Amino acid sequence: MAMSTVLTPIPGHVPEALVFDFDLYNPPGAATDYHGAFARLHDNGIPDIFWTPRNGGHWIATRGTHITEIFQDHSRFSSRMKSVPKEHNPKDPLRPITLDPPEHGKYRALIQPFFTVPAIRRLEPIIRNLAINLIDGLKPNGQCEFVADFAQHLPIGIFMGMVNLPESDRLPLLNLVDEIINPGERSKQEIFASLNEYVGEKVRSRRGGTGTDLITHVANSVIDGELISYTDAVSVCSLVLIGGLDTVASTLGFIAHFLATHPTHRQELAAKPQLIDAAINEFLRRFAVTNPGRVVTRDIDYHGVNMRAGDMVMLPTFLHGLDEREFDDPLSVKFDRAPKVNAAFGRGDHTCPGLTLAKLEIRVFLEEWLARIPIFSLKAGSDVGIRAGINGSFYRLSLAWPS
Ligand code: HEM
Repeated sequence: MAMSTVLTPIPGHVPEALVFDFDLYNPPGAATDYHGAFARLHDNGIPDIFWTPRNGGHWIATRGTHITEIFQDHSRFSSRMKSVPKEHNPKDPLRPITLDPPEHGKYRALIQPFFTVPAIRRLEPIIRNLAINLIDGLKPNGQCEFVADFAQHLPIGIFMGMVNLPESDRLPLLNLVDEIINPGERSKQEIFASLNEYVGEKVRSRRGGTGTDLITHVANSVIDGELISYTDAVSVCSLVLIGGLDTVASTLGFIAHFLATHPTHRQELAAKPQLIDAAINEFLRRFAVTNPGRVVTRDIDYHGVNMRAGDMVMLPTFLHGLDEREFDDPLSVKFDRAPKVNAAFGRGDHTCPGLTLAKLEIRVFLEEWLARIPIFSLKAGSDVGIRAGINGSFYRLSLAWPS
């Protein structure tokens, strides 16, 4: 995401005391410490909800209570637009993520059966075998580019299993995913258009089919008494693919980076795999990655803040877990922290349906990697590279270990 150098004029309903200049896609310091760069928004003097003139001008809610409340209030805060600047939002709804109830529920119900605990359990052997093969292949090299060589392969393997794709599709998908994580010449819109084209071909060929995979199920679903439209079916299937891509690859990147730079935590986890459950929750609290937004539906007074219909409110999910009013010493990673819900996977109607799957991917990574490569660190002389965006993510994370 390009840095926003343009300062949008402050609208009349925004008082000067609530203005703070903050570029969500390029916060100072984020290239090396993404979460630290956002955690500064909890410093004294910065309002809990403020207006920034960057990226078209928008509100940012920085505290867990407001983030949770806004996620759960679709009548005042709609999912119709999720990104800033507003022009970056897709023209056609991405189903179900940019729909509000009751429309939202009709499309969410189509994918829900594929995310139940038993359904995810069936995917576990695919994920585990893939992880083991990847790690066994990398281990003799003594080094790897973690996201490109490992993290981004897991979500692709899962999607392929979920929708029953042939092995020959792995490479084209991998190339598309790599482009999403490491954007080159093509814009995100162009990349998503290629992705829709790819998914569209599968939807078309599975219309009228009898398979039990997600694409066949969605492509032959009935909405309001009629066969789902081709465009809507593509939208739902593409979202399942996109939803689990850079979110998972980024989260694994932040966890791997933490373990590479915190040997005591790494040794403890390698020695006591029974801590892994607690560690997964703690990592998701400390290193949540996504930055979704909402659009205000009507003029409102929200906890003393005057918001106008059409204003965007961004909800950095990780600011909930980093809120010192909710979590003691929030920047520290403590495997014995008492479990408490936070907004890493959103809250309310849109709460991530992929959360059980995401946790399984993190578990498999921790179990299989630490069993095979218990000692690793950042590769000497190589800088890490983090890109802020709708999901903060590593584009460069070189790890090394004794081979
Ligand atoms: C660590 C990994 C993940 C994180 C942090 C994450 C985060 C989120 C968040 C915050 C939302 C809510 C967005 C909003 O309310 O605007 C969401 C929704 C969604 N996620 Fe995830 N996600 C992850 C993994 C996955 C996976 C693995 C999949 C599927 C394979 C997935 C599919 C979806 C879908 C389809 C939605 C839209 C749900 C709806 O609109 O009802 N996510 N995710």
